[in-house]
Amino acid sequence: MCASRFMGLVDFQSTSSSLCTIKSSASSYHRPCCHSFQRTQWRVTCMASTVQVKVTGDSFIRPHLLKLSPYQPILPFEVFEALGSMKFPFVYPDPESRRLRAALAQDSGLESEYILAGCGADELIDLIMRCVLDPDDKVVDCPPTFTMYEFDAAVNGALVVKVPRKSDFSLDVELIAEVVEQEKPKCIFLTSPNNPDGSIISDEALLKILDLPILVVLDEAYIEFSGIESRMQWVKKHENLIVLRTFSKRAGMFIV
Ligand SMILES: Cc1ncc(COP(=O)(O)O)c(C=O)c1O
Repeated sequence: MCASRFMGLVDFQSTSSSLCTIKSSASSYHRPCCHSFQRTQWRVTCMASTVQVKVTGDSFIRPHLLKLSPYQPILPFEVFEALGSMKFPFVYPDPESRRLRAALAQDSGLESEYILAGCGADELIDLIMRCVLDPDDKVVDCPPTFTMYEFDAAVNGALVVKVPRKSDFSLDVELIAEVVEQEKPKCIFLTSPNNPDGSIISDEALLKILDLPILVVLDEAYIEFSGIESRMQWVKKHENLIVLRTFSKRAGMFIV
């Protein structure tokens, strides 16, 4: 057993755990040896240049992710029937979702080159953050609103600057402008109609925010229930605008 080659004192408390040896200098790194031990306390003597590290699955996870409260999922819906009826389930689907984007272009009137298909708005929110944010970058959130923006920002190591909505749930555009000037956030997530209150962001407010040096992500998950038109077409005019739409509310298809 390689423990006999070590010098120094290391205490390990373990329930059937693995111990690996790692030498401190890269040039003298030697092949790790691993052993399984039953619940016991270990006092191991090791050589000066050798440290012992207890490796658990969690040790690989970024520390700030370990601090997040776990997401509480609902039970998944039955999808096996649909999957079972797929013609070529063993072939990777088109990564560019060309047929779907062509259909969406027809439905929305916006050309397909402006459209990116994702696995629900949730995935797109996360993808946007991963593309845009470096750790410690700032994101503006306007609560009360959909909580995934805050959650995904935490997952992506970003800082959330909250600009609460006014008592009538409208956006505090002046405060948003101040925050953008002072905190230099990279992006802002806006929801219209808003979850939970259903309030709509006016053209005037949206145009003022689009004039700021910030990426604006406008989440229109509930637009079909509002009686107003989507701002999808606005992306042609405003380079800093992304509009999110989803089938999950419009068609009750939470898996698309
Ligand atoms: C405002 C808002 N955006 C996005 C989503 C998530 O959409 P999807 O089901 O497409 O991931 C929700 C879900 O509740 C939502 O309320």
